[in-house]
Amino acid sequence: RTVYVNGDYLPEHEAKVSVFDRGFLMADGVYEVTSVLGGKLIDFEGHAKRLERSLHELQIRKPMEDAALLEIHRELVARNEIEDGMIYLQVTRGAPGDRDFAFPPAETEPTVVLFTQAKPGLAESPAAKTGIRIISIPDIRWGRRDIKTVQLLYPSMGKMMAKAAGVDDAWMVEDDHVTEGTSNNAYIVKGNTIVTRHLGTEILHGITRAAVLRFAQEAQMKVEERAFTIEEAKQADEAFITSASTFVMPVVEIDGMTLGDGAPGPVASRLREIYIEESR
Ligand code: PDD
Repeated sequence: RTVYVNGDYLPEHEAKVSVFDRGFLMADGVYEVTSVLGGKLIDFEGHAKRLERSLHELQIRKPMEDAALLEIHRELVARNEIEDGMIYLQVTRGAPGDRDFAFPPAETEPTVVLFTQAKPGLAESPAAKTGIRIISIPDIRWGRRDIKTVQLLYPSMGKMMAKAAGVDDAWMVEDDHVTEGTSNNAYIVKGNTIVTRHLGTEILHGITRAAVLRFAQEAQMKVEERAFTIEEAKQADEAFITSASTFVMPVVEIDGMTLGDGAPGPVASRLREIYIEESR
């Protein structure tokens, strides 16, 4: 694989980052994951905008213009012959040469790393046909989940808790209300209404979420943006998640409770179809 690091395209084993990098020492960095379908980037502009916002919120210098970033994405897709897959992008506050809690001088160069992940048949995921099963876990993350930081230890532990419980993923719950999945936004369907948490600092503002809500409204589906409880979710007709890597993925079981007849529901399935159609 060819990867990008600080201006260079290199074979992955030759790419190096300093041991003093603040991403490594302090999780002081942000990231984006953009999907590629049929060689085409999905929603690059949305990811670039959110990256800019995350950098701004943390006062990390924006390393380059969006056009230059797009060029690197395209170059990596071409060099690695990616048909279907993902591009991971990370920007950290850089490597000031020692460990210090205070931010380094503003002129410190941010570290920029991008790499590709090939996922042949990304849109034909078998899990979309059966749906996934989830458990709920307490949300004990920090309070600025709207910033896409590389601080992913708890979501990673959540994924392991799900695995240990024999299921696929976990939804995080705060004050009885679902915030989001370990690496995705969460939705339930009651009758004809899609319910998903309103935007705020409690969740990541998903790029897939924005697209899916737009498609839902265009298809005359009813959408309510509000917090819902985990109990309400267990009684829902359908549930699903969205993210750049899973698109729209039906959820068929929550904490051992089967939703509906245990098969992916019509709303989730239809939204998945529309999302993939529109992204091709
Ligand atoms: N995760 N919520 C969280 C906590 C996430 O980590 C993600 C994305 C989302 C969905 O956002 P988007 O639709 O923009 O992908 C919601 C990425 C895919 C990841 O960490 O791999």
